[in-house]
Amino acid sequence: MKNIPVSVEWKNDKLFLLDQRKLPGEEKIVVCENLQDVIVSIKTLTVRGAPAIGIAAAYGILLGLEDTGLNEINRVFKSRASELVDARPTAVNLAWAVDRMLACQEANRSNENIYECLLREAKDIHQSDRESCRAIGEHGLDLVRKHPNILTHCNAGSLAVSELGTALAPIYLANERGTKVHVFVDETRPLLQGARLTAFELSRNGVPCTLISDNMAAHIMSEGKIDMVITGADRIASNGDAANKIGTLSIAIAAKYFEIPFFIAVPLSTIDLSTPSGSDVVIEERDGNEVTHFHGTMVAPLGVSARSPAFDVTPSELIAGIITERGVIYPPFPGAIKNLMIE
Ligand code: MRU
Repeated sequence: MKNIPVSVEWKNDKLFLLDQRKLPGEEKIVVCENLQDVIVSIKTLTVRGAPAIGIAAAYGILLGLEDTGLNEINRVFKSRASELVDARPTAVNLAWAVDRMLACQEANRSNENIYECLLREAKDIHQSDRESCRAIGEHGLDLVRKHPNILTHCNAGSLAVSELGTALAPIYLANERGTKVHVFVDETRPLLQGARLTAFELSRNGVPCTLISDNMAAHIMSEGKIDMVITGADRIASNGDAANKIGTLSIAIAAKYFEIPFFIAVPLSTIDLSTPSGSDVVIEERDGNEVTHFHGTMVAPLGVSARSPAFDVTPSELIAGIITERGVIYPPFPGAIKNLMIE
């Protein structure tokens, strides 16, 4: 794949983010030089998508520490970690990556080369994410070959993860290896991650796709045009319930009605054994002006009340399978997830 966009890059002790708010019109790079820059970038969705914010945080916790000594790193690390984790609550990958950085700091608290060890850890988080994406792609490939007309929601591609993404990884590989795939892309109101980001990266890589507004999905299913749904997730609870971008739940319900298999693709870093079920997931509530405004233009009466929950929870009984870097698991999920995580 030649045209895969790169969302997160670390160079010369600085973090470079492709500004996802500006896509597809402009490919602008934002340079983060300190912790606050990366926190603001996560909150404003300059960088977004569960694994990508984890990777940005793993590098971001180090910003500005390259010339400080061991004592200073040990002094500030915990409070930096909690500031980063507070930036967005739903995607567990953020806390997972920050916890790995904290564990590395703890293990090296007397090591004069602590900065180099921490940087190695962040690079390792990034590299294993790339490898997980490719493995997810390989494990999901047969499913896509059998069900080549796919609906996806939000963006779980390279912009949200690394290289191939999660939900898009098997689609990219199937397309590259000659399967005639077709992807229906939900626009994903209110912030249009589907229209702006998924349609952008699929078309750039020559994957045939059709953009639809979210309220068209059930109709297209009723026309028999969709063989399978694949989305990513921000957190999977230990019972298999999956939190993902708002609107995923209604697609899963419609897919069940039309007997279309609904799959989720995630790296293991998205599975949170400490969250028993979907009702325990904190759903990020964003500013209602994301709903009253459409791409900066007000589309609702002044002063009207509006809500913007950024995610919803799809109960595990609506999920046909979960595609991971260790293989595809099927219901019953509590046992399958436990076995997967202890492999
Ligand atoms: O608010 P966003 O754009 O960060 O939400 C992203 C999603 O919901 C993705 O589907 C999810 O993070 C999976 S990315 C592999």
